[in-house]
Amino acid sequence: MTGSEKLEEDDVPPETTTEDLLRLGDIASGSEQPPAAQPEAPVVFDVRDLSVFYGSFRAVRNVDFEIHQHQVTAFIGPSGCGKTTVLRSFNRMHDLTEGARVEGTLNYHGIDLYGADVNAVEVRRRIGMVFQKPNPFPKSIYDNVAYGPKLAGAKRSELDDIVQRSLEQAALWDEVKDRLKKSALGLSGGQQQRLCIARTVAVEPEVILMDEPCSALDPIATGRIEDLMDEIKAQYTIIIVTHNMQQAARVSDRCAFFTTEVNEQSDTRTGILVEFDATEKMFSNPSDERTENYVTGRFG
Ligand SMILES: Nc1ncnc2c1ncn2[C@@H]1O[C@H](COP(=O)(O)OP(=O)(O)OP(=O)(O)O)[C@@H](O)[C@H]1O
Ligand SMILES: [Mg+2]
Repeated sequence: MTGSEKLEEDDVPPETTTEDLLRLGDIASGSEQPPAAQPEAPVVFDVRDLSVFYGSFRAVRNVDFEIHQHQVTAFIGPSGCGKTTVLRSFNRMHDLTEGARVEGTLNYHGIDLYGADVNAVEVRRRIGMVFQKPNPFPKSIYDNVAYGPKLAGAKRSELDDIVQRSLEQAALWDEVKDRLKKSALGLSGGQQQRLCIARTVAVEPEVILMDEPCSALDPIATGRIEDLMDEIKAQYTIIIVTHNMQQAARVSDRCAFFTTEVNEQSDTRTGILVEFDATEKMFSNPSDERTENYVTGRFG
């Protein structure tokens, strides 16, 4: 069973209290929105001094930045610098990894995501995730998309519409509308990845986290997913991890460059955030030499 399947299976929220849902419900209605740092793009996540540990190993340290609404933010940097680790902290995926621990503050619309009274299952519904390797369930195309909404209590009569709308949003509807009851495992890799995006948007999250979603796809499927991000970002806030610099430059509004800091004395390697800025600036006139070396291909 993959991590996300486990997540979906665990999605029946026995411990969800009305109070918890109401607490997060206030976010959806916008009734308790804090003042925006930038009027044109309110802050969704405010990250302060974030460190992530696996047991006693500090994988990433002291990360500070803000993620803005209806923008695409790209995480770039060499392998092992902690991009996935940081991404997974945004929807509490580390809760599912034994020994993983998050320190610092990660505020979502002003609420501490790791607060004792915040429900992790509801967090993962609002903040969805698409993994590097497409991981459809061994079910029909229809059932893959309907799975989350069913768990969330959608009525049978609503499901057809939800499935169609989600597949349309993921730019897959035309290719699968005549084979909805066929197994999702019969789809191509690029189609499976778009199905996973449809499955994620079906539960109407506010944020979509994508960990190298195009790494196994050909340029055509990659182009489709990039176009898709551009189309849906008016509705969602997207964070994407990518090793493809052209992709980061094409799709993102802001960019975070991470690297690995090596401490020779203690022989430890820790991920750090080197620079975070508007993508245009990061690619044309970065402030840090390490960023410049990376984006121009002189490193990594
Ligand atoms: N579950 C885990 N347990 C222990 N260490 C881990 C775990 N997951 C990641 N790490 C370590 O944390 C560091 C950061 O890993 P991470 O997967 O976040 O890097 P990344 O930037 O996403 O790399 P890549 O580009 O190769 O995907 C690495 O040193 C990695 O070995
Ligand atoms: Mg990774």
